[in-house]
Amino acid sequence: MQKMWEGRFKEASSKLLEDFNASISFDKALYKEDINGSIAHATMLCECGILTNDEKDKICNGLNQILDEIKNNKFEFKIEDEDIHMAVEKRLSEIIGKEIGGKLHTARSRNDQVALDFRMFVLNENKEISNLLLKLIKTLNEIAKKNLNTLMPGFTHLQHAQPVSLAFHLLAYANMFKRDFERFQNSFERNNFLPLGACALAGTPHPTNRNITARLLNFTAPTQNAMDSVSDRDFALEILFNISVVFMHTSRLCEELILWSSQEFKFIEISDKFATGSSIMPQKKNPDVAELIRGKTGRVYGNLISLLTTMKSLPLAYNKDMQEDKEGVFDSVKTATSSLIILNEMLKTALFKNENMEKACQMGHLSATDLADYLVSKKNIPFREAHFITGKCVALAESKGIDLSQISLKELQSVNEIFDEEALKVLDLHNSKEARKSFGGTANKSVLAQIEFIDEFLKINEI
Ligand code: ARG
Repeated sequence: MQKMWEGRFKEASSKLLEDFNASISFDKALYKEDINGSIAHATMLCECGILTNDEKDKICNGLNQILDEIKNNKFEFKIEDEDIHMAVEKRLSEIIGKEIGGKLHTARSRNDQVALDFRMFVLNENKEISNLLLKLIKTLNEIAKKNLNTLMPGFTHLQHAQPVSLAFHLLAYANMFKRDFERFQNSFERNNFLPLGACALAGTPHPTNRNITARLLNFTAPTQNAMDSVSDRDFALEILFNISVVFMHTSRLCEELILWSSQEFKFIEISDKFATGSSIMPQKKNPDVAELIRGKTGRVYGNLISLLTTMKSLPLAYNKDMQEDKEGVFDSVKTATSSLIILNEMLKTALFKNENMEKACQMGHLSATDLADYLVSKKNIPFREAHFITGKCVALAESKGIDLSQISLKELQSVNEIFDEEALKVLDLHNSKEARKSFGGTANKSVLAQIEFIDEFLKINEI
């Protein structure tokens, strides 16, 4: 079989080389980007007088036919064609003849072609994942709206710390995913530049106009330096990093969903639609989806480290090592997309067990800090001493087997006479949550402002 580059070769390729060298088995996923990029390139060549109108039309019609063939599973992907770029170009010449088909690759190289196709793929996926993040943020905000008064323990060191609302807790995640969304936006803006036209590494003597191609493909502008354009894979690393941060966040959320659905917590029940059973233990209902998302964080991090390592120390410009850039990205975007879709649905259908959350607040002396704060603000006691006195009250409650929020005034006064009626009010768990009116705090007023902030953000981003 004839190779496009065989002019200087005397011997045919080994079958081993063909199998080892080819990327078509996976880069065929870039067929749409490849064909659209070629149509824009041919259009630009025509506008610059490098192709005639008739040649451009024949090329574009041929490319559209190939698009249909691939979409309808009528295109045969062959390992000998090496990659999607050469497979499409070869088929084009079969359809419209070599005379004209052979002109498409004028002022272009596979190096800038692959940089273009892969970049367009990454930018499209960026939009896709960004939209899924918006949907997830919306779900969290909607659940928050319904749970302003759902009291639950806030934790540090996984020990009961202070009372919060479920709304407040979920809004923490909404803010993380908002930053993730913004990270994707920033990456899009930074990377939305056209590498095509850089050719092999040094540009071209043909009278091309890269601004035309950039406009046709909706890029902000062409990239500045041809050598950078074909050497750079930052755009791919960025999506791998951005997805990794999303998974760092989703893995924390999923970890909590797993804990919360355990018998020890009983804070939520995951819908039957998104839980699984055991093959031996009839009573089991397992949070497999949350566990899988948590587990997939490993492969997503792996893909990032893998490409960082591949790119490390590569001399400029293109090196074949860079063909290794694609599979990890394909895997990470697929993993992110499917995980975000199912996580959103799982959250929407989960049952939050408000009573159990509130009951859990009656363990662990969650309002102890409030008692110390009361001694400081109402009794003018230095915080360190207030901390000590409150510690004594906690020890008393512990010895009586009750929570500090259930202690009587008499008992408090047995520790220190300074306590009065107001101490009982500050120990009330709802009051404790409401007392934290500071900007970003747990009081409903603060939380409502946080909800509104997210609503505003979602409105600006049209969801
Ligand atoms: N299949 C190659 C890749 O994915 C396309 C670029 C090949 N360029 C070259 N000079 N061999 O990286």
